[in-house]
Amino acid sequence: MTTAPAPAPGQPPAAFLEVRDLRIHFPTDDGLVRSVDGLSFRLDKGRTLGIVGESGSGKSVTSLGIMGLHTVGQYGRRRARISGEIWLDGKELMSADPDEVRRLRGREMAMIFQDPLSAMHPYFTVGAQIVEAYRVHHDVDKKTARKRAVELLDRVGIPQPDRRADDYPHQFSGGMRQRAMIAMALVNNPELLIADEPTTALDVTVQAQILDLIRDLQQEFGSAVIIITHDLGVVAELADDILVMYGGRCVERGPAEQVFRRPQHPYTWGLLGSMPRIDREQTERLIPVKGSPPSLINVPPGCAFSPRCPYADVPADGITRSERPELAPVPGTDRHHAACHMTHEERARIWTEEIAPKL
Ligand SMILES: Nc1ncnc2c1ncn2[C@@H]1O[C@H](COP(=O)(O)OP(=O)(O)OP(=O)(O)O)[C@@H](O)[C@H]1O
Ligand code: SF4
Ligand SMILES: [Mg+2]
Repeated sequence: MTTAPAPAPGQPPAAFLEVRDLRIHFPTDDGLVRSVDGLSFRLDKGRTLGIVGESGSGKSVTSLGIMGLHTVGQYGRRRARISGEIWLDGKELMSADPDEVRRLRGREMAMIFQDPLSAMHPYFTVGAQIVEAYRVHHDVDKKTARKRAVELLDRVGIPQPDRRADDYPHQFSGGMRQRAMIAMALVNNPELLIADEPTTALDVTVQAQILDLIRDLQQEFGSAVIIITHDLGVVAELADDILVMYGGRCVERGPAEQVFRRPQHPYTWGLLGSMPRIDREQTERLIPVKGSPPSLINVPPGCAFSPRCPYADVPADGITRSERPELAPVPGTDRHHAACHMTHEERARIWTEEIAPKL
């Protein structure tokens, strides 16, 4: 996210990536599922944005939307209704020709999925798939592409890359497969890398190694990175900015340092409370936010978090419960925003007196 003033709709932004009022809705037999409902953010090159939220909050739908994947293959089974603007490097992708978006995908923007097996083909060797990903965008012979593939496998820490390139995905361990997928995503030096829960399926040690790797590669390539996770701990050290999603909307966003030091939204307080801490016993580790995520169909008016919010009864001047809280700047900050009806003073008091001492 940047500090530059927002240009008018339809006008290119100063930021490398800017998402404006993104809505992705799926018509279903039960009604319209509002998976993403008015999401906006900006990201510059060389910066990392952490998108955090629990299961079903719309994180993956957002990333697939940015990649333009809601119209193709397995993701296009139910035609999505998409609106808003997605600006990447001065180009608006929603109104762009699908062929142009296809060309950008893999070359200018790439994605790392939670489950590498779903992203890699089981019948082709890892090397062959990286070679193919490279040759789609580069007019080179197989030998040159193979050299590049082996170079990348080496770069992501796969031992004996020349030999391992000839293995099939199932012959790799989970962590190695995740590395191979990172190699595939990076083979064309993308300027935007989206990592959707890149470490969820991995054990803690391998998780840390993969996150270190993403950080190193980002510094090396200077790309813009979006890391998507349900665990604030994963992005605590990695992200420059944090965006907290709840029920398809952003409830809080800002510089990571501020979101961790002075979080403004009761849902973020809940996420912080459920963060695993190495200095605590296992039994004390997880205090999940009580209650279930909101329905994305027939979304009730008012604050979507209210059924789970311990502060839903705190009076807020002149605001009725049926009003939806909009993202508003946090006084005294330049980029920190939160969507909560409580006054800033009230939130600051609750955080300092009631929440922070317990974390
Ligand atoms: N093709 C689709 N048709 C209908 N609903 C969908 C479709 N794809 C996603 N959804 C719904 O959109 C919501 C958001 O899904 P999404 O996959 O983005 O969640 P998420 O935040 O990535 O969750 P997780 O942490 O479990 O990966 C969910 O309720 C999901 O069921
Ligand atoms: S608006 Fe009310 S219900 Fe929603 S998060 Fe703030 S205090 Fe809780
Ligand atoms: Mg997901």
